[in-house]
Amino acid sequence: MTALPEPAAGACPLRVHCAAAGISVPVPAGTSVLDAVRAVGLEVPAACPDGRCGVCETRVLEGTPEHRDGVLDAEERAFGETMMICVSRATTPWLVLDL
Ligand code: FES
Repeated sequence: MTALPEPAAGACPLRVHCAAAGISVPVPAGTSVLDAVRAVGLEVPAACPDGRCGVCETRVLEGTPEHRDGVLDAEERAFGETMMICVSRATTPWLVLDL
């Protein structure tokens, strides 16, 4: 398990396209991707509030995640194939996720 990075101040809003559901969801600053997709009715499992358990790991289809979890190692982060949507955001203004 890797150390959790400091949260970025003033996280920017982003838009998440949920490819399987075929919906696009705005994620305001201060709201997690997990909370935003759950708010529109998607059922996504999660077991912790802070990026430590790995239950919410989600495949990234497009876009670049900004990892803030304590689960992925450096190589996995660099690869960017998955992200923990309870805490992680994006360096791109959008993400396409396998949700
Ligand atoms: S729910 Fe635990 S890492 Fe996201």
